[in-house]
Amino acid sequence: MDVEVTIRVDGTDRRLTVDTRTTLLDALRERLGNTSPKKGCDHGQCGACTILLDGRRANSCLALAVAHDGAEIVTAAGLAPDGQLHPMQQCFIRHDAFQCGYCTPGQIVSAVAMLREAEAGWPSAVTMDSPDGGADGGPVRLDADEIRERMSGNLCRCAAYANIVPAIEELAR
Ligand code: FES
Repeated sequence: MDVEVTIRVDGTDRRLTVDTRTTLLDALRERLGNTSPKKGCDHGQCGACTILLDGRRANSCLALAVAHDGAEIVTAAGLAPDGQLHPMQQCFIRHDAFQCGYCTPGQIVSAVAMLREAEAGWPSAVTMDSPDGGADGGPVRLDADEIRERMSGNLCRCAAYANIVPAIEELAR
């Protein structure tokens, strides 16, 4: 069954007709030509498809487009309007935080959302007893262990974590 939905993607309203089984990932990539989110596992396990969905990170391979009519979506491409790179994107470049680059858009979107979550005081398994956990909504300082834990939903098959973690750490202090 086909349904019309309107989603706002990287600041632009897009209206499209989708089958009720179409995921946001497929809608973005195959219908709207936005290849920023990548298809890795297509099962919610790798994080390559991570987007900001109404401000929160989400695996777009697990979200049905029909369930998100009216949603606001930001992809890694949308983090750099007019070609001005987001600070997180700049950190990834500075730290050479990629090898093949396939997971990079998802890593960056997830890292941006992760820092917002930490600033809002969302706990993690590592930070339950951390004095810098940001529980009051104030500034956060995340160490490498905590970054790894909070980013555990984003896998890198090249295992470039030795550079990814310091890239994120630069903005997490
Ligand atoms: Fe969505 Fe792997 S493609 S989590």
